[in-house]
Amino acid sequence: MRISDYDINDMILNRWSRRAMSGETMTDEDIMPLFEAARWAPSAMNNQLWQFSYAKRDTEHWQKYFDLLMEGNKVWCKDGAVLIIILSRKISFYKDKPHRTHAFEAGAAMQNLLLEATSRKLVAHPMGGFDRDAAREMLKINDNWEIQCMVVVGKPGKKENLPSEFIDREVPSDRRKVSEIICEGKFKDNAP
Ligand SMILES: Cc1cc2nc3c(=O)[nH]c(=O)nc-3n(C[C@H](O)[C@H](O)[C@H](O)COP(=O)(O)O)c2cc1C
Repeated sequence: MRISDYDINDMILNRWSRRAMSGETMTDEDIMPLFEAARWAPSAMNNQLWQFSYAKRDTEHWQKYFDLLMEGNKVWCKDGAVLIIILSRKISFYKDKPHRTHAFEAGAAMQNLLLEATSRKLVAHPMGGFDRDAAREMLKINDNWEIQCMVVVGKPGKKENLPSEFIDREVPSDRRKVSEIICEGKFKDNAP
């Protein structure tokens, strides 16, 4: 159970990176609203320099995306329903110039997706543990694009069915205090 320093929307507090999934498939009807949520994220000049390349369970694409994951992620992602690779374009669509905040904006889009999944009682877990070079080669991604992250989405499953090393870890994590991450009128290096 998470306790916030201040009262906030439950959806934000209740989002956490669960691992227990059921292995059930999801339909486009289940999946598309997640991308719809991502679509409404803010971006400088409304560039929307993000892309979500995905594979659904029980399709010809699934195994190829799954094989990109590191072993420690494979052992529980095997019960996921969708694997998503989030990319951001380094070059603006409009000015053909580098866009400084492409990664930042793709992160905002990912958070929208995670929150929408949370509100639909789905598991959605971001992962950096995958082979980016292999992903680039597999999807023939050109140098204008950076590969940011993968996200697995699935229907919730029983925590007892996780590999044993993950059972005790299937709890929401805590955060630093608000007072440790803010600074009024100045900057201080707040490394813990
Ligand atoms: C960019 C990024 C990469 C991550 N990589 C992994 C990963 O490879 N495997 C994993 O199990 N969790 C991964 N996580 C999940 C984090 O461990 C998790 O978000 C963090 O501990 C905070 O917990 P919470 O999301 O449950 O609130 C990643 C999260 C982010 C944002």
